[in-house]
Amino acid sequence: MAIVRALDPVALQADFPIFEREFRGRRLAYLDSAATSLKPRVVTEAVAGYLNNYSANVHRGIYQIGEEATAAYEAARTKIAKFIGAKDAREIVMVRNATEAINLVAYSWGRKNINKADTIVTTEMEHHSNIVPWQLLAQEKDADLEFVSFDEDGTLNQDSYDVLLRTKPKLVTFVAVSNGMGTINPVADMVRRAHEAGALVLVDGAQAVPHQPVNVQELDCDFFVFSGHKSLGPPGSGALWARREILEAMPPFMGGGEMIREVHLRHTTFNDVPYKFEAGTPDISAAIGLGAALDYLSDLGMDHVRAHERELVEYALKVLPERVKTIRIHGPKSGSNRAGVITFNLADAHPHDVATLLDREAIAVRAGHHCTMPLHQRLGEEASARASFYVYTSHDDIDRLAEALIKVERLFARN
Ligand SMILES: Cc1ncc(COP(=O)(O)O)c(C=O)c1O
Repeated sequence: MAIVRALDPVALQADFPIFEREFRGRRLAYLDSAATSLKPRVVTEAVAGYLNNYSANVHRGIYQIGEEATAAYEAARTKIAKFIGAKDAREIVMVRNATEAINLVAYSWGRKNINKADTIVTTEMEHHSNIVPWQLLAQEKDADLEFVSFDEDGTLNQDSYDVLLRTKPKLVTFVAVSNGMGTINPVADMVRRAHEAGALVLVDGAQAVPHQPVNVQELDCDFFVFSGHKSLGPPGSGALWARREILEAMPPFMGGGEMIREVHLRHTTFNDVPYKFEAGTPDISAAIGLGAALDYLSDLGMDHVRAHERELVEYALKVLPERVKTIRIHGPKSGSNRAGVITFNLADAHPHDVATLLDREAIAVRAGHHCTMPLHQRLGEEASARASFYVYTSHDDIDRLAEALIKVERLFARN
């Protein structure tokens, strides 16, 4: 086995301008990377470079800066394709985020292929963006929407999955890594079984692409989506990957400029994929910034990123229950199938109070349902607090979290 070199998060912090700021006299302990990541200087420089030096539209201007903008935008598409192991950059549709990518599939592929009484299977641990578009489609088409349950240990119940596969669903969709509990799902195995049942598979990779190596050809799924802003890139960047033949058979999602070949007053012919799905001026600077972010992550090595986060999550799973007496941590108990996400409740303090008090110590965590209300209903919690990690997260951040939680516990302790 290859030796995986550890990342040095403290050294990497020098790449992120935000760590130059002081918050209440301290360095920020940013533990909300599952919501969005911080941005390294190479990304902000790439965005500023486009805006300052060649801010022309893409695929239009036959002049130097127009050609430079098109080249940089298309280079970003190629980098995305390479980063997720796509065969061909033409299989990458540039979108603003994972939500837009899922909606694109639901509207375009879904409206054409899902009919009355067809079944769509998803899971109880999905982000709202992988539930609501399917609810809308199922309501419109009078189709069935079914949910794979999850067990006490935060893993999907594979027997319930097999039972649902026997109903011969048309589409199966699930999250690769849960933003609610950090669960890493057995994607390739679940895809294989869904294909055996005759379904196409959409994988929500929003929390996978930033944190572990991804290869869509090895996963063998049919659609794969992610957001750039969680992967060190700017907001407004993201991608839908789908097999070329599937994209080619899909009708357009939005109509307008760029997605056409010829427009007549009464009919239009459409551009080739992926441009058929990229109506209007795209978020050019965000796409270019995402390209820079993926270069940065590739230089670090995604095996190293995963190894670093696994070590951190194992450390947190050990020290938090040892030091914070009333903590309840949800989800898998081991770092082997858990990404860098610790979702928890304290016995006597509401998650919003926890987050507010942590903020006073310059520690940023998320509080609420994290866009996973069904997951929280299943956990029996109205809300939770969530600490999530990335390449710049250090053991010191987790120690600071533990110390601050001990103080919160003392403040709220029932006498
Ligand atoms: C697992 C998962 N899927 C989808 C999304 C939606 O991402 P976005 O808001 O960037 O579209 C998120 C965001 O938190 C997520 O964690």
